[in-house]
Amino acid sequence: MTKDLVIYFSRAGENYFGGVLKNIEKGNTEVIAEYIEDLTSADLFKVEPAVEYPADYMKCIDARPEIKQALTDIGEYDTIFIGFPNWWGTLPMPMWTQLEQLDFTGKTVKPFVTHEGSGFGSAERDLKRLCDGAEIKKGLSIPGAKVYDVKDMVAHWIEDPGANVYDVKDMVAHWIEE
Ligand SMILES: Cc1cc2nc3c(=O)[nH]c(=O)nc-3n(C[C@H](O)[C@H](O)[C@H](O)COP(=O)(O)O)c2cc1C
Repeated sequence: MTKDLVIYFSRAGENYFGGVLKNIEKGNTEVIAEYIEDLTSADLFKVEPAVEYPADYMKCIDARPEIKQALTDIGEYDTIFIGFPNWWGTLPMPMWTQLEQLDFTGKTVKPFVTHEGSGFGSAERDLKRLCDGAEIKKGLSIPGAKVYDVKDMVAHWIEDPGANVYDVKDMVAHWIEE
């Protein structure tokens, strides 16, 4: 059995939680990436811009950056989790820089997003282009403010990404049942 890989982007610093700006030490998407590492022993690869985005939220809207270090070969992995925050309705630009360099032919891709209400936006559609040749499974969409409550759900999705459409509504249903 080959190892899985998680390619993700996540930004600590200022962010909105239910409309309130808070300063966080670990990005929301990174919390989920580490659940996947813990649950599957996957390798982690964090995409980082060469010039760090400032902690100041409003300065993150600038143009597409170079990345610090690029992953060039994913040949040894069959399953690749791709995680990111929703930025203006799609993946943050450093993820585009990274994913465009990789050959996804024959790979299985499991996308996950954290967000403040928009879910994947156009990201699932964009991933079809960015991961040309991959089989893209149903993604997991998690509100950023809920990342510390959803490890069980992440485990369930890892087992069977096609079983359900996970989103805020399903999460509420899940909590009602427990
Ligand atoms: C520059 C920027 C743009 C964002 N745009 C959106 C958006 O369009 N829709 C949305 O639901 N959330 C948006 N968010 C909120 C993030 O997706 C959300 O807080 C996410 O959980 C952050 O993940 P991270 O801590 O791993 O970076 C944006 C955040 C930033 C910093």
